[in-house]
Amino acid sequence: MIILHVVGARPNFMKAAPVMAALGARGVSQMLVHTGQHYDAAMSEVFFHELGLPAPDLNLNVGSATHSVQTAEVMMRLEPVLLERRPEWVLVYGDVNSTVAAALVCAKLRIRVAHVEAGLRSFDRTMPEEINRMLTDQIADLLLTPSEDGDANLLREGIAPSRIRRVGNVMIDTLLRLLPAAERRWPEVRRRFVTTRFSLLTLHRPSNVDDPQKLMRVLGTLAGSSRELPVIFPIHPRTREALRSARAEVPEAIVLTEPLGYLDFVALQRHATAVVTDSGGIQEETTVLGVPCLTLRANTERPVTVSMGTNTLVGDDLDRLRDELRGIAGGGGKRGSVPPLWDGRAAERVADALLAAGGE
Ligand code: UD1
Repeated sequence: MIILHVVGARPNFMKAAPVMAALGARGVSQMLVHTGQHYDAAMSEVFFHELGLPAPDLNLNVGSATHSVQTAEVMMRLEPVLLERRPEWVLVYGDVNSTVAAALVCAKLRIRVAHVEAGLRSFDRTMPEEINRMLTDQIADLLLTPSEDGDANLLREGIAPSRIRRVGNVMIDTLLRLLPAAERRWPEVRRRFVTTRFSLLTLHRPSNVDDPQKLMRVLGTLAGSSRELPVIFPIHPRTREALRSARAEVPEAIVLTEPLGYLDFVALQRHATAVVTDSGGIQEETTVLGVPCLTLRANTERPVTVSMGTNTLVGDDLDRLRDELRGIAGGGGKRGSVPPLWDGRAAERVADALLAAGGE
């Protein structure tokens, strides 16, 4: 049996790593295809080293383009690979353009495809990722969900229960495995940023960064809070590009850095007083680390991080952001608890589910 994994963008890598390890431990032959959606060393290469992912067997080098072109390029370049290799299963991860593109190629070729992180819904169709999630789940053969809400969403969309397996959160497998290594990085990371109390900021959603005035208002609010909590901001290439084309500068009070590797970023999350983000995965990681997270979105496809975890949705209410930050700086903020099956063993359950379904 050959299992082929398709990854493309930064948040895919930490999900594929534990699944590849669990399948490898069970003696399964595997192949890794990188679509090249993310191509900068800081967005891709560094993660392969740190996560212990094997070098991709193939890179499709699709690069950046409009969503349609990027999706189409992945499809066109992946189809001949799948026709040649004919894997028993293809695994796709998360909700990026590469995920839906690969799932669609598999569905057309009638190659079985499993979606890791299935069933998440923000119910906001203006998000490109929501479209990717819905379409991928409709056409995938096996839907591996991280939490109960995922199962409920899929059932509501008419998906047969026999296609759904609740496995837990594979990204948390990686977090728990590498937390000790991240902690060993902390003394050096702390020296670099010269502060012990800080908030950690990430921003890359089109809804937050593509309108420069909105982006500058968010950054202005955070700069205003930086006397109580200095802000560290590893900037995503999309956000850097948005600022450059608007000829806007990040306020000086904010400590700007290039995108960080996994270990340094986890070390910063672990030691942050607060995290401010519009990322999906960071809402989950902060919940497990017990660090209060303020999410600059009106909705989340990961509601369990709000109901059980440390996440608070602040939308684009910047007064609320300022007040919440002040509360956290003063010792407040959610502590939360860890959702079921976010236990470091999710990839084992993915591997078992695939092997059980393998002979069907
Ligand atoms: C993508 C995912 C998003 C995920 C994010 C994590 C989709 C629809 N979105 O968004 O869900 O949270 O990755 O990072 O798939 N760029 C570079 N170097 C790179 C990659 C991107 O400079 O290595 C720049 C390019 O200018 C590009 C822009 O970033 O146009 C956007 O990249 P893209 O992969 O299209 O989407 P992201 O915004 O990164």
